[in-house]
Amino acid sequence: MIKTITVAMTGASGAPYTLRLLEQLLLADCHVQFICSQPGQIVMAMETNLKLPSSPQQIQQQLNEHFNCTQDQLSVYGLDQWTAPVASGSSVADAMVVCPCSMGSLASIAHGISNNLIHRAADVIMKERKKLIIVPRETPFSSLHLENMLKLSNQDVIILPPNPAFYQGVESIQDLIDFVVSRILDQLNIENKLSPRWGQKDD
Ligand SMILES: Cc1cc2nc3c(=O)[nH]c(=O)nc-3n(C[C@H](O)[C@H](O)[C@H](O)COP(=O)(O)O)c2cc1C
Repeated sequence: MIKTITVAMTGASGAPYTLRLLEQLLLADCHVQFICSQPGQIVMAMETNLKLPSSPQQIQQQLNEHFNCTQDQLSVYGLDQWTAPVASGSSVADAMVVCPCSMGSLASIAHGISNNLIHRAADVIMKERKKLIIVPRETPFSSLHLENMLKLSNQDVIILPPNPAFYQGVESIQDLIDFVVSRILDQLNIENKLSPRWGQKDD
């Protein structure tokens, strides 16, 4: 059965993770629902060569061309598009990944403040007891950030910071990106060989 995965990009550093994750989910034949905050769009433009246009329809068209996929495979929703499937438990996705997750969005999600579609979709995923994966990016963390992460972890949310390891043998930045994306795909039970696994590398 096709998995439906919601991917949200917020305004924290880490756009290359988002693009690699979207690519891999599409390759794995998932149906992907994508939402990006306005700060997320700024980060995307600063960290990649993709400059997302303003309307969700235009973003949809651009990403469909970028990933060579159809809108049945990748749908894009606006931050205030309350009629989107992700806004309701009656058409809940199988899982949601907030990648990267800003400390602002982390706080809103931890406190159930559903002022935009990203936070509402996360709220819905949690209330429906589906898997929510948060990829929080900040350094160092304040006690408030850590408390918000603990609050979510206690609700069975997976807190997956983008902390690549180096033991697998790193030759490029892409290897570091792939390490993190591989851990996200593992949490989604999506088979992948993006990064060598512990014990599999020849010495
Ligand atoms: C280029 C850039 C990088 C940023 N990086 C981070 C970051 O790594 N972590 C973070 O919490 N906020 C970061 N911010 C600040 C957030 O974008 C800001 O707090 C914003 O209000 C988050 O809103 P959102 O969660 O709705 O996207 C960054 C902002 C910019 C413009």
